[in-house]
Amino acid sequence: MNYNRIAIIGAGNMGGALVKGWTKAGLAANLAVTAHTKRTLDRLTEACPGISVTLDNNEAARGADVVVLAVKPWLVGQVIEEIKPVLTDKLVVSVAAGVRHERIDVYVMPNIAAEYGQSMTFVEEAPQATAVAELFGRVGQCRVVPQRLMDAGMMMAGCGIAYVMRFLRAMMEGGVEMGFYPDEAKQIAMQTMQGAVALLRETGLHPEAAIDKVTTPGGITIKGLNELDHAAFNSAVIRCLKAGLK
Ligand SMILES: NC(=O)c1ccc[n+]([C@@H]2O[C@H](COP(=O)([O-])OP(=O)(O)OC[C@H]3O[C@@H](n4cnc5c(N)ncnc54)[C@H](OP(=O)(O)O)[C@@H]3O)[C@@H](O)[C@H]2O)c1
Repeated sequence: MNYNRIAIIGAGNMGGALVKGWTKAGLAANLAVTAHTKRTLDRLTEACPGISVTLDNNEAARGADVVVLAVKPWLVGQVIEEIKPVLTDKLVVSVAAGVRHERIDVYVMPNIAAEYGQSMTFVEEAPQATAVAELFGRVGQCRVVPQRLMDAGMMMAGCGIAYVMRFLRAMMEGGVEMGFYPDEAKQIAMQTMQGAVALLRETGLHPEAAIDKVTTPGGITIKGLNELDHAAFNSAVIRCLKAGLK
């Protein structure tokens, strides 16, 4: 794909994470970034030397090959209207949740771990999806999926970050109740989670098979696991993921 010029319209949590991730991937000189306020752009320029910034969406989009819309969903239509005249030969990509528009070529659902090259991104099937997946692949893993799976992807990976944070927070609170300071409890919870992920990645095991490895019959791990079952943990997670589906 031609990375010559990428305009990112809206540099908040998501747009900013993409800009920082692409900057780390060596694309700073290719990025033209906009926001509503100069303050946001000043902060971003400090974090990402080499990017171009402007408060003028038309100016950023005019020189771009790819225009990434990263404003709040309710602003997408308004922003497209504003820059429509310069969009004629551009590839228009949107990361806005749940917004459809005739001028958008490719729908993408990344998450904010893009800043650290760790996004789980979904790209909706479209003629240019592979090229777009290549670009978003610079900031993490990318999957091209049919439209019917985009919302599921959003719930698992876009919103999923928040759900994982809740689990981490719950572990922290348990740790604090048992005597660790909050920071220690956070480090312990994060490292345990990282270890669990590494185990699955390295072995390819199903989570239940990994659970068997740490569960002694009559031991203490099974007591905790059964408490989770009594509290309907599985069901709560499944309902959480499905809550945002239309
Ligand atoms: N946050 C996530 O985890 C996540 C994940 C996946 C997808 N998304 C999608 O990403 C989009 C942005 O969400 P967000 O959480 O990043 O919101 P946000 O933090 O509020 O960021 C929105 C950005 O848009 C800028 N902006 C507002 N009006 C603008 C305009 N007319 N022209 C150009 N820029 C303008 C804002 O500028 P100022 O900073 O100067 O106000 C801000 O930087 C949403 O559509 C959301 O569905 C978000």
